[in-house]
Amino acid sequence: MADRAASASPIVVTTPQELRSLTAGWRRADELVGLVPTMGALHVGHRALIEAARRACDRVVVSIFVNPLQFGPGLDYPSYPQPLEEDLEQLAQLGVDACYHPAVATLYPKGFATRVSVSSGGDLWEAASRPGHLVGVATVVAKLFAATGLCRAYFGEKDAQQVAVVSSLARDLDTGVEVVVCPTVRDPDGLAASSRNQLLSPAGREAALSLSRALIKAGETFASGVVSGAELSRAAAEVVESEPRARLDYAAVVDPVDFQPVEVARSESRVMVAAKVEAVRLIDTALLGSPPQPSG
Ligand code: PAJ
Repeated sequence: MADRAASASPIVVTTPQELRSLTAGWRRADELVGLVPTMGALHVGHRALIEAARRACDRVVVSIFVNPLQFGPGLDYPSYPQPLEEDLEQLAQLGVDACYHPAVATLYPKGFATRVSVSSGGDLWEAASRPGHLVGVATVVAKLFAATGLCRAYFGEKDAQQVAVVSSLARDLDTGVEVVVCPTVRDPDGLAASSRNQLLSPAGREAALSLSRALIKAGETFASGVVSGAELSRAAAEVVESEPRARLDYAAVVDPVDFQPVEVARSESRVMVAAKVEAVRLIDTALLGSPPQPSG
């Protein structure tokens, strides 16, 4: 591992050309490059990904780019938090080597015409609720992989359909990128860390706990002997529906590979839940057999 003093500022690069020549130099020196793609507003979940990359790789690049292509029209792109200075301080403390922070016009200049569409992850849940979202994710991640070159890339399990899409594109496009999936980091009360949590009022944050409680409820119901996917989905849905400040989008028990609803659940089945709390859309997920630990 490179002996990099924590708290040295990362090199900030803003173009794919700069990033490519930086990482090419590292690879020539036989250094393993770790990439952590983010949209910034870094929180404990991002930090866990960065720390995993720091432990396993010689060099770590964190990209910070709020990708307009993955936000639907009228969604929260303009209000997405962008505390760049604080983010860069965190990257320095974490011993990150480089931050890739391109402008929108750099990644999507006039005439940009390509979209990357991946069918893994199915056409349900996030794919159905946010049309175009996963295409936007796949397109920007393909560009990040192209600019970084051979690397290990770190993603969070919380965005399970995103993981499926990114893993397929890494393989199908012969990128040579190794995708590493890290477990969801939660606040002590069970709420999955998210950049959007900071947009919630205190009451909204309390209501947002209904998502992780729904996962716990599904896990408990399964542990009590219920295996019907429909019944388990209902049990999860009811937790969110009983919270007046939350508006359920979906609650489902699905196959972990193709994301189709399961009739008969197993402990490897995945529970997925999405809801709107105040103006904030939140998602959470866990395997049925390993739900978040209930707090207190
Ligand atoms: P963003 O929401 O910033 O998340 C960046 C990475 O952090 C993703 O891989 C996400 O799954 C992971 N992550 C988010 N919350 C987490 C948590 N509580 N625990 C562990 N990991 C967590 O996801 C995106 O950005 C974008 O779609 C991106 C991949 C950068 C493409 O634009």
